[in-house]
Amino acid sequence: MRKPIIAGNWKMNKTTSEACELVNALKEKVADIADVEIVVAPPFTALWSVSEAIKGSNIKLSAQDMHWEKSGAYTGEISPLMLKDVGCEYVIIGHSERRMYFAETNETVNKKVKAAHEYSIKPIVCVGERLEEREVGITNDVVKDHVTNGLAGLTAEQMLATIIAYEPVWAIGTGKTATPEQAQEVHRFIREILADMYSSEIAEQVRIQYGGSVKPDNIAQLIAEPDIDGGLIGGASLDVESFIKIVKLGK
Ligand code: PGA
Repeated sequence: MRKPIIAGNWKMNKTTSEACELVNALKEKVADIADVEIVVAPPFTALWSVSEAIKGSNIKLSAQDMHWEKSGAYTGEISPLMLKDVGCEYVIIGHSERRMYFAETNETVNKKVKAAHEYSIKPIVCVGERLEEREVGITNDVVKDHVTNGLAGLTAEQMLATIIAYEPVWAIGTGKTATPEQAQEVHRFIREILADMYSSEIAEQVRIQYGGSVKPDNIAQLIAEPDIDGGLIGGASLDVESFIKIVKLGK
């Protein structure tokens, strides 16, 4: 019932020509895949050229962040209107790197999520604990805080058009993946939070991706868990062959 979604978060990598090269190679090789939703999130500068390159393919476009206002005096920022204009269907919001280095808070996440929905852009909202938080046993508190405050005030319809990405910060770019059991436990917990916020019917329909050192050799075990509906892939999405393997195993 929940279609798996595999998204490549390219972070601050790839010039426009490198981005096009990657996505052109990718689109040929995933053309016949219909049972997994495939998304790429290039840097802002490559969004337009990647958008042109994927026209007519089964690959969808995401941005990695955005501002919540439509336009105005916000030097350096990109608005939801601009993302819509270049063909973004998704936007990653609240990635831990934004929280860590760029002062992203649940409050700004919430403003961005609401703004994304105003423009019918589906937000991929990242939540997850840091290592020290896991070690002192407050993983669930942190995740609950991210989910309830980051997604506060959404209508049921907006919630259904929102993707949650559980990304334990200690697993991002470190090669340390959460075990499938550890990830499943948190994914289940997120679904319980959504059931409290909305209803169990809605909670069962929302897609929850796992992210953090997902590779071709661990995606199958992760996706086999009942509450894991896909992956948000950083490092391994920069290499076309490894991303294709993940997409093929991600169902
Ligand atoms: P990683 O990054 O796959 O390189 O760990 C995941 C992410 O940050 O979304």
